[in-house]
Amino acid sequence: MMRMFALAPLLALVACSPTTSPQAGRGLFDQNCVQCHGKDARGGDTVPDLTGLALRAGGPYPQSMVLDKLDGYARGQAAYAGVEMPQFGYLLTGPLMRVELPDGMSREMPEKIVALDSYLRSIQRAGD
Ligand code: HEC
Repeated sequence: MMRMFALAPLLALVACSPTTSPQAGRGLFDQNCVQCHGKDARGGDTVPDLTGLALRAGGPYPQSMVLDKLDGYARGQAAYAGVEMPQFGYLLTGPLMRVELPDGMSREMPEKIVALDSYLRSIQRAGD
């Protein structure tokens, strides 16, 4: 019985893992993305504004598109004024986790990508 009580807080910790929090994503964003998308993620002439992902999608935050972009699957499908989003092998390293998607599917993803996704979701302007 004692065992179960001791486990409960541990399970709660795993559920909101610090490695996939928006804060963890922010750290990864600062290391890998600001040089193009900018510190405020607002992009520029040749790079899209990442606070407007939901607005541009005309509705909810487009999670599948973002995950495809970040794991390199959709790389080069949409060159923007001739600049391409690079592929980040580093983001594909480390532990994996299963992510439930809005369409009812689930996907195994690297935690680093999940963290970036939760950060991007947290900075969307109205329209999410
Ligand atoms: C070398 C510059 C560069 C870097 C670094 C970069 N990006 Fe991009 N990103 C782009 C460009 C250019 C596009 C538009 C072309 C495309 O979608 O492939 C883009 C597109 C995107 C999109 C899709 C936006 C849309 O509306 O279609 C997302 C999401 C994104 N980047 C996230 C990130 C994240 C997160 C990082 C850091 C891990 C990152 N980018 C690093 C240049 C960059």
